[in-house]
Amino acid sequence: MELLQNDLFLRAARGEKTERVPVWMMRQAGRILAEYRAVREKAGSFIQLATTPELAAEVTIQPVDLLGVDAAIIFSDILVVPEAMGLPYEMEEKRGPVFPNVVKTTADIDALRIADPETDLGYVLEAIKIVKRDLNGRVPLIGFAGAPFTIFCYMVEGRGSKTFSVAKKALYADPEFSHKLLQKITDSTIAYLKAQIAVGANLVQIFDSWAGILSPEQYREYSLPYIKQICDAVTEAPVTVFAKGAFFARQEIGQLSCSVVGLDWNMDAAESRVLIPNKTLQGNLDPCVLYAPYDQIRKEVRKMIDTFGTQHYIANLGHGVYPDTDPDKVRCFIDTVKEYSSNL
Ligand code: CP3
Repeated sequence: MELLQNDLFLRAARGEKTERVPVWMMRQAGRILAEYRAVREKAGSFIQLATTPELAAEVTIQPVDLLGVDAAIIFSDILVVPEAMGLPYEMEEKRGPVFPNVVKTTADIDALRIADPETDLGYVLEAIKIVKRDLNGRVPLIGFAGAPFTIFCYMVEGRGSKTFSVAKKALYADPEFSHKLLQKITDSTIAYLKAQIAVGANLVQIFDSWAGILSPEQYREYSLPYIKQICDAVTEAPVTVFAKGAFFARQEIGQLSCSVVGLDWNMDAAESRVLIPNKTLQGNLDPCVLYAPYDQIRKEVRKMIDTFGTQHYIANLGHGVYPDTDPDKVRCFIDTVKEYSSNL
């Protein structure tokens, strides 16, 4: 058994009692930190950084040292899975990720492979090993992957979109194609998450970032069953499901065999406790609160903890921290969670 000096995050995830509320931030390993930007500069590009294990490990640990978070999250991206399946991506400076080729036909799906984590994603596994060695038990490490539906969106559409209307059109026009691709992504994701855990990830989080663009009916057909397959298959460590915008599916998500449910800021804490009675909840401060004056941030954080309570709870933002957020405001968020929840 691994000995962790600070296991608050894992104990909360498992539903055990904690002395205070653990806290971390989605996208904590990223552009908010000057120290991240310096390493990224040295690497030359986002993809260089993500595929160089020593550098990926370095930026993974930065927020632990510089911000005082209770967990590290491996520096990578959800789009490494399509790449490992045979669909490479590029990261354009202002536009974000772009896939030069997209999946259009059944033949395109057949040309993809089920990712083999050891060969296709060995650089992430290597980075996890380095992080584990260098963290030396200070805090747990979170592994992650995109939910199959969110990955499907990028593989079919080829780039980010407000509506993902091309990807959604495929769901309506060709259910058979859609299920076939979703299943191949799911099989790849299960193997990948298990491999992350095998080399040291203490918990894995599934990001369904585009859940909110689906109707409840579509969500039930095209996203939930695949997340369920992942939750049922990944039994080696606790799993967190974060489905942004899927307020309508909270009850069903709460019935999955996951340990933690992530909430965005549109999801009311008290209502979520009723809909998801038996799991740890994670979230959900609006990242925009971190643009407010310090006193306002402290007030909003205290209010959030008062509504969630101090147990079965992991403090986080409702989505990733925005890149132009002042790191001192981030520290204010983290310190307030720690101080306020210790004294309740
Ligand atoms: O959370 C962490 O600190 C770990 C690292 C992490 C990144 N991406 C690094 C990254 C994680 C967990 C992700 C997940 C991810 N990536 C998601 C799901 C979470 C969410 O935000 O909804 C999605 C949808 C992506 C796809 C993606 N990657 C987009 C749309 C973009 C461009 C927009 C943006 O946020 O920058 C990326 C690029 C990306 N991934 C960056 C980082 C640090 C910025 C690239 C850079 O440094 O130049």
